[in-house]
Amino acid sequence: MKYGYFDDKAREYVITRPDTPLPWINYIGCQGYFGILSATGGGYSYYRDARLRRLTRGRYNNVPADFGGRYVYVRDNESGDYWSPSWMPTQSDLDDYSCRHGMGYSVISGKRGGIRAATRYFVPLDETLEIWQTTITNERLTPVDISLFSSVEFCLWEANDDATNYQRNLSTGQVEVEDEVIYHKTEYRERRNHFAWFACSEPLAGFDTQRESFLGPWRGWNKPVAVEDGKSRNSIAHGWSPIGSHHVRLTLAPGESRQIVYVLGYHENPNEQKFDPPGSQTINKATVKPVIAKYRDIDNVEAAFAALGKHWDELLGVYQVASPDEHANRMVNIWNAYQCMATFNMSRSASSFETGIGRGLGFRDSNQDLLGFVHMVPSRARERILDLAATQLSSGGAYHQYQPLTKKGNNDIGGDFNDDPHWLIIGVAAYLKETGDFSILDEPVVFDNQPGSEAPLYEHLRRSLQYALDRLGPHGLPLIGRADWNDCLNLNCFSDTPGQSFQTTTSKDGKVAESVFIGALMVLSARELSALASQVGKADDAAFYADVARKMDETVRTAGWDGEWFVRAYDDFGRKIGSKENEEGKIYIESQGFAALAGIGVDDGKARSALDAVRKHLATPHGIVLQQPAYSRYYIEYGEISTYPPGYKENAGIFCHNNPWVIIGEVVLGNGDAAFDYYSRICPSAREAISDVHRLEPYVYAQMIAGRDAPTHGEAKNSWLTGTAAWNYYAITQWILGIRPEYTGLRIAPVVPERWPGFTARRVFRGVAYDITVTRAGAGNTVALVIDGKAIDGDLVPPPAKGVAAVKVEAVIG
Ligand code: GLC
Ligand code: GLC
Repeated sequence: MKYGYFDDKAREYVITRPDTPLPWINYIGCQGYFGILSATGGGYSYYRDARLRRLTRGRYNNVPADFGGRYVYVRDNESGDYWSPSWMPTQSDLDDYSCRHGMGYSVISGKRGGIRAATRYFVPLDETLEIWQTTITNERLTPVDISLFSSVEFCLWEANDDATNYQRNLSTGQVEVEDEVIYHKTEYRERRNHFAWFACSEPLAGFDTQRESFLGPWRGWNKPVAVEDGKSRNSIAHGWSPIGSHHVRLTLAPGESRQIVYVLGYHENPNEQKFDPPGSQTINKATVKPVIAKYRDIDNVEAAFAALGKHWDELLGVYQVASPDEHANRMVNIWNAYQCMATFNMSRSASSFETGIGRGLGFRDSNQDLLGFVHMVPSRARERILDLAATQLSSGGAYHQYQPLTKKGNNDIGGDFNDDPHWLIIGVAAYLKETGDFSILDEPVVFDNQPGSEAPLYEHLRRSLQYALDRLGPHGLPLIGRADWNDCLNLNCFSDTPGQSFQTTTSKDGKVAESVFIGALMVLSARELSALASQVGKADDAAFYADVARKMDETVRTAGWDGEWFVRAYDDFGRKIGSKENEEGKIYIESQGFAALAGIGVDDGKARSALDAVRKHLATPHGIVLQQPAYSRYYIEYGEISTYPPGYKENAGIFCHNNPWVIIGEVVLGNGDAAFDYYSRICPSAREAISDVHRLEPYVYAQMIAGRDAPTHGEAKNSWLTGTAAWNYYAITQWILGIRPEYTGLRIAPVVPERWPGFTARRVFRGVAYDITVTRAGAGNTVALVIDGKAIDGDLVPPPAKGVAAVKVEAVIG
């Protein structure tokens, strides 16, 4: 069953009932200011860092999960009936409800007793604020007298501290109210130079800033006493729990509609200009007042919303496809690209499943994310690459994560995840192929943020590979370190103490356990580095890395081969993992998918055999599980993977991030039907019809779908922030549809289902718009190209003559 529908023309998903199985969210903001926004008005906001600059509160482990947010209450002053157009938090029955999640905005609308209220939430480009634009309409035949109450609950900036340190925090809260604007200024008196503000476009009947005054003792957000009474308390918070609430009172004639704008913003002052007058404790509002004035004006709000739409037109316009499959079209043209921008912005920090107080930006995660967004925001991709490289260690190793606010490597988690360095090479190669901007390789970049340690980015890439070459194990395969892509394969951990972190505990010296997966990854990264070196005239390096790739390819095909499929790893005792010799965990997806993707064993049949084994042992109707059989008990020598009950997460869950490696592998082997079949099994839109099973948003990927060993096979978890977004986008756009940037042109090499008669696409590549028509003439995948009317050899469209902005590509496949 479904809980809504796609409105592709509007680029929206329309949720038609508020009681979705789990909160179905959207993100507002796309630069520095961000908010999570659920379909029932829940969620929180932050500036740049979800932990260190949290504006509003999120409560973890709450029931219902989605409680607290950006609520507007409507009160009928005649009857005293009050309700929430977003259904939460009052949960009053609504005559009509919808939530339209769109590109960087959501519109939540509810109707009760002839009154309709719809609020459009968004963050204007280049601003550090969010707008709630409420339209209230009287659909009765008689006039109404109504009150509107807004509400936000301020977080005391450091979200972790906010959730733990009550002995201090309940005494630090401070606000100011001036010209009917609520200012939240906790800790502004001391070391902070930033504050939040909450304004409303209308004259106020009252306001509240102290939570207890607004809600009343022993009451929650579902029953605020101020709303019940129809009267704000005009409270000024001092200590306890600062909130922001405006009370607006209106009368509406029959059919009359009014708009009210609420704006929640973040603002910084220079340290020496914090107070006005200087020496006082009053916030200097000189630079914030013009911003407030601007967005109290509805014309400016409308202009900002139009600009946001244009921004998304541009981003999404880079790649548009019309294929015979509506799900693929919708994902490529709208939602998957949109999700890729969310993972770029948010990494893995803040979602319904990530509290925002935990992880920073992952080194491997962010490099892989590049595959999904580099074509939309190349200059921001460049900045991201340089930030990542600046956290690299001089050994070539990497901090596993860094903090977005400080851009420094995270010491708590450290490094030694031995796959990490390779992803930098893969990310940079993707950037170079997209942009042709080789100047980035000469950029001086520090190691470990240490001034004076600058070396050209190219040298960072060299060291990434050297790090791996310096760490080969007994079979000549890469040593795994703390873990490889699979964070839960902790072969040197041997953890026997409750609560120990599998990410940081190491009990073994790590000289034995090897990863076949990193071997396959290294074949790809060495080949990419070789290709890149030859592009910049470094012939010796090119030859050297080509040789590294060749040798590792050989090692993977010998030491890494189990007879029918690729081994996953060798443990600390030198025993195979992912082999028929094992009792459980006999076959893993990662080494099969990545080897085929990297072209290993294509010529000698090993890749085909490995993918056949995937089909036989790992494929389910809901996607491909990570390994089989699932671990039925804890294996101290394997670590976290065996901590999960069978069917969840890395222990035989469908980890949607690695399914595209098999998809691309099938493409490499020329099997478009299999590739697209796997693509469709986990495609969120294609799963919309089983929303009651899948349970999460049908417009974005989730990290995991419960595997066949779980009682709830097919149930998704951890939506939004996952490498799944970039990898599936990359798999469908560059491999199945086959439109692939290369150093010397745009490759057109579709490997699509045999039943497809063809498709059309538009791709903007290095400033040129390519209009591509693909027509099937036979069952195969060979490509014949006609460029602007002229037939050419091969499948690579060379760059057009200078000044040419549009190219017509006709491809016949068969
Ligand atoms: C999570 C991590 C990612 C890791 C994966 C598999 O998605 O963010 O870095 O590769 O889990 O363990
Ligand atoms: C846990 C998860 C894994 C994730 C890791 C990140 O180990 O199982 O998916 O990558 O945490 O910290």
